[in-house]
Formats: sequence, structure tokens, C-alpha cells
Amino acid sequence: MSTTDQRVAVVTGAARGIGAATALRLAGEGRAIAVLDLDAEACAETVAQIDAAGGRALAVGCDVSDAGQVRSAVDRIATELGAPQILVNNAGVLRDNLLFKMSDSDWDTVMNVHLRGAFLMTRACQSHMVDSGFGRIVNLSSSSALGNRGQANYSAAKAGLQGFTKTLAKELGKFGVTANSVAPGFIATDMTAATAARVGMGFEDFQAAAASQIPVQRVGRPEDIANAIAFFTGEAAGFVSGQVLYVAGGPLD
Ligand SMILES: NC(=O)c1ccc[n+]([C@@H]2O[C@H](COP(=O)([O-])OP(=O)(O)OC[C@H]3O[C@@H](n4cnc5c(N)ncnc54)[C@H](O)[C@@H]3O)[C@@H](O)[C@H]2O)c1
Repeated sequence: MSTTDQRVAVVTGAARGIGAATALRLAGEGRAIAVLDLDAEACAETVAQIDAAGGRALAVGCDVSDAGQVRSAVDRIATELGAPQILVNNAGVLRDNLLFKMSDSDWDTVMNVHLRGAFLMTRACQSHMVDSGFGRIVNLSSSSALGNRGQANYSAAKAGLQGFTKTLAKELGKFGVTANSVAPGFIATDMTAATAARVGMGFEDFQAAAASQIPVQRVGRPEDIANAIAFFTGEAAGFVSGQVLYVAGGPLD
């Protein structure tokens, strides 16, 4: 593929963590990247790293749970970078609490960012994919989809994303669009650092405790997840659709 028909990938929540690593990895695969996050300025570091590596990237400020902002962001990406053909729904938040303490807003915030956000972004991008006869969608699920204490909201959203993914695969397959889900285990990012702080542990001790329970005896890095996403978004993965890949350093119960 020449640079004139370079495919455009949108990575949500790409200012840091797994999203930033994915943006860099997909840029390395020759994709032009829309680096999307709540605040465009927070995307500057990821964009600068892509630029420095000789890639092409655009910082886009957008709250994925806001329909108007999503519409404008995808229109702008299509105009300034090109029609999006790859979408990674990665933006996420935690509002952990045991069920009896979980507020309406803890529930709604998590549903809105993960589920509504993935729905709005996918609906806005799919017409570009269908029109071009090519699309790759990856939704970030989690090992918490199998159930996790203190995460009734998050585990429901992450399990919901698996059903969403399989439905997209069935509806969009005939248009050359695949949809898959990557479900990380423990990955060292600001998200897990915040969880360590919430439970009153130092991040190093928290990671060591997690690593001792993982068969490969280490916690994950954002690049571990970016590698799996690069496979699903690759040109060669057109016959792989509707799958959920747990990337967790071992099998899960
Ligand atoms: N870190 C882990 O151990 C882990 C495990 C399983 C799944 N995940 C999932 O992977 C994804 C990335 O996680 P991470 O650890 O890199 O998290 P992170 O907190 O480091 O980064 C998340 C990014 O999403 C952005 N974001 C939040 N709400 C947004 C919104 N409404 N609109 C646009 N952007 C928004 C944040 O600003 C942030 O830059 C999330 O969906 C998370 O649930 C993470």
C-alpha cells in the first residue's frame, strides 16, 4: 500500500497508557493515527512521538460519551486525515466500589464511557469503513468481564463490549469489516496505579502482588496489548472476526 492510500486509524483514550502504546504501534505499521482523548493538549506527547518516528498523527479532543462531540470529531478526522478504516475503542475509566456503596453516577459514568462511547464511535466510523469495503474494529474488554469484586459497573460494561463486538462482526462482515475484542489482564498504567493508591498500596508492591498470581510471573505492559491490537487490525487478519483474546500472561479461571 502506498502512502497516498495509507489507512487511517482512530485510537480513543490515546493520550497515555494502552491507547498511547497502540497509537505508536499502529503508526509503526504505517497507519495515519487520530490520537483521540478528552483533551487535545494531553494528546500532544503521543503525537510528537509518532511525528518523531516519521509517522502522521492528528490530536483530537473528544468525550466519546457525547454524541455531538463524536460526530464532529469523526467528521474532522475524515477531512483532515482521511476516512477512518480502523477504530480502537480503548477510552476507559474506573469507578470501583462494592455494590452496596456504588452510586448511580459510578454506574452511569462507566457505562457511558465504555459502552455508549464504543457505540457512538463505532456508529460514526462504520459508514467510512462500509463505503471503502474495509474496516477493522477492536474493542478493549478486560479480564474483569468474568467478574471482579468491587467492579459491578466495569465488569458489566466489559462483558457488554464482548457482546457488542460479536454483533458488529455479524452485521458488518459482509462489508469487509472485522470486529474483535482484546481483554487485558493486569497492565501497568495510570489506571492500575490509581487502583493501588485507592487500596492504600505502593504501586511497586501492588504490581509484585499481581505478578505472583500470573503464570508468566510479571504484570503486563501497554505494548503487550498494542501487539495483540496490531494483529487484529492487520491486513492479514480479515478472516478473524468476533473473537475475544485474553492477554493476561496466562489462562483465566
Ligand atoms: N490497565 C489495565 O490493567 C487494564 C486491564 C483491562 C482493561 N483495560 C482497559 O484498557 C483501556 C485503557 O486502559 P489504561 O490502563 O491505558 O487506562 P488509562 O487510565 O491510563 O488511560 C485511559 C485514557 O482514556 C481517556 N478517557 C477517559 N474517559 C474518556 C472519554 N470520555 N473520552 C475520551 N477519552 C477518555 C483518559 O483521559 C485516558 O487518557 C481501558 O478501556 C481499560 O478499561 C485496562
